[in-house]
Amino acid sequence: MSDQETTILGEFLPYEEKIGESGNFIFVDAKEYIDAHKKTLDNYEKFWEELALELYWFRKPQKVLESVEKPYIYKWFSDGLINVSYLALDRNVKSGRKNKIAYIWEGEPVDKDGNPKEIKKLTYYELWREVNKASYILKSKFGLKKGDKIGIYLPMIPELPIFMLAAARLGIIFTVVFAGFTAENLATRLNDIKATLLITADGFYRRGKIIRLKDIADKALELSPSVKNVLVVRRIGLENLNMVEGRDYFFDELSKGVSPGVYVEPEKLESNETLYVLYTSGTTGKPKGIMHDHGGYSVLLHATMKWVFDIKDEDIHFCTADIGWVTGHSYIVFGPLIEGATSIMYEGAPDYPQPDRIWSIVERYGATILYTSPTLVRMLMKLGEDWVKKRDRSTLRIIHSVGEPINPSAWRWLYEVVGEKRCPVGSTWWMTETGGIMISHTPGFKLVHLKPGTNALPLPGVDVDVVDEKGNSMEPGKKGFLVIRRPWPGMPSWPDGIWGDYQRYVQVYWDKIKGLFFTGDWAIRDQDGYIWVLGRADEVLKVAGHRIGTYELESTLVSHKAVAEAAVVGYPDEVKGEVPVAFVSLKSGFSSSAELAEELKGWIRREFGPIAVPSQIFFVSRLPKTRSGKIMRRLLRALLEDKPLGDMTTLEDEAAVEEIKEAYERISKEIKRS
Ligand code: WT7
Repeated sequence: MSDQETTILGEFLPYEEKIGESGNFIFVDAKEYIDAHKKTLDNYEKFWEELALELYWFRKPQKVLESVEKPYIYKWFSDGLINVSYLALDRNVKSGRKNKIAYIWEGEPVDKDGNPKEIKKLTYYELWREVNKASYILKSKFGLKKGDKIGIYLPMIPELPIFMLAAARLGIIFTVVFAGFTAENLATRLNDIKATLLITADGFYRRGKIIRLKDIADKALELSPSVKNVLVVRRIGLENLNMVEGRDYFFDELSKGVSPGVYVEPEKLESNETLYVLYTSGTTGKPKGIMHDHGGYSVLLHATMKWVFDIKDEDIHFCTADIGWVTGHSYIVFGPLIEGATSIMYEGAPDYPQPDRIWSIVERYGATILYTSPTLVRMLMKLGEDWVKKRDRSTLRIIHSVGEPINPSAWRWLYEVVGEKRCPVGSTWWMTETGGIMISHTPGFKLVHLKPGTNALPLPGVDVDVVDEKGNSMEPGKKGFLVIRRPWPGMPSWPDGIWGDYQRYVQVYWDKIKGLFFTGDWAIRDQDGYIWVLGRADEVLKVAGHRIGTYELESTLVSHKAVAEAAVVGYPDEVKGEVPVAFVSLKSGFSSSAELAEELKGWIRREFGPIAVPSQIFFVSRLPKTRSGKIMRRLLRALLEDKPLGDMTTLEDEAAVEEIKEAYERISKEIKRS
């Protein structure tokens, strides 16, 4: 992201007049913010306690932060009893929002005039009833109860939040698997959590095509012995589904027998009880199941909805993410509902049938808050301003992005073209592990001056720092590791942080820089205290804002009959930020060809998912490795970017200089040929 680096330490934007019109923001300079922030850290537990008490508890917590016998596992509000499904639904139904719209859902298909064919508006009362019905079915038909585990593999349809909330209501632990993932990815996750029920759909629409989701789920089920039952939502009404007698049931058929007034008592859960597990993958090993709880997580979402989105009853919140990723969990499902907000949920592709789909949605429902991603912005930017300008965006008052660093030109486009310089535009930094936003502009707290591309300042009560490998704070302007110094509500939760693997939790997040939460990101703090997250310090890929583990991708390649070994590295891409490029060595008996490269791309598409298809596949005779067998990915990246070997030798400490040079030259020749 080269244009970013040039604006670091750059000028503030003179914006206040127009931005002032779009909201009642409190403007402060960075110094004032930093002072206010310091105060929140001084009384840090008290500070979070007050926020926690703004929520409804079946039993109010007396304790705030508690260590347990396992280092780095913390309990937040441990003696409190709570249920996020109750906060999201019952509280709103009881407090005057009964007939307020909770979700505006728009399906992808359009009529001949380009207007959406399906729009559903669900009030809080309707959503509450649907969730009660779904809970009832989980409980009485499948006998599920607190502590049981289920998988949810659904597209962006209302049943997705409905089942998340229905499971939460009963204290059932769920894992949502992104509907764009393949059977293998689904099976890995179902097996890790040992789900006994899978909830899926017959299919869904994506860019005008029908994706037969149940067929994919069927393949996963062959590999997932723990799953005893399958509940199928009929989104499309597809024929020829393989419904296994006694195992598979249609949701609508089971619903028929349920009385519309059915009520399922929400479980009064201890704050630290697990709400969900969401998998995220890295450079080694299987994906990590990050755990989040009911209490701490709800408190963080409540706080961030207020500070970052300045959420008000009259807002229409539009987050363009998919609920299959953490952004959707936190800011389409739980965050907005806890606050009693109205939010928009869109099923399909952002450029279908035309590149103005997102802006038409903003116009149609008068969205006031837009939460999107740099990748989406860069994609739409390329298609021209006219698509934006022909739609009314005058209702928008706050815009944020998430997922990867936003380059200043994409930032400017959001600020100038989309928001017409009326809206603060931010780049909220967080990750699956943090549960909610950690660093951001905070229009609902105190708003500091914008700078294009920055993440701005840490949120109140959040102690982040940029440090060297020993944990010492870096001077302003110097690049270091982004860490979190103190526990926060919403952090990976008790009892293990990572589902079934406490040791790994400690090793990945707390042992790298002893005692500090290691995010894996590079960052710079500038002279005004603003934080600029630069990207991953590890070899995790960020494709279109999604974290793609090189390990999973390489394993998929190696599972192809022709492949002996594979290494995947990220290559800069104008739209997606980064795209995977693969280096492959073949088994004897196979030889490289353009056809084989295409076949391998198709293999990844089918076996891993379309988001991770490599832009290029290079065939090499051997992969460059250190003596301990670690693939020298940095060397591969330098080759791709046509950078000289340079200080590569210092980076790969285990390999001899000669070996590295030899590998560099050999592969350089080989990739020129292929
Ligand atoms: C990684 C986490 C949190 C929801 C989406 C991604 C990168 C995220 C930003 C931002 C710079 C960002 C980091 C982080 N990242 N937001 N605003 N600026 N980088 O969740 O898949 O868990 O990925 O995304 O590298 O570590 P995730």
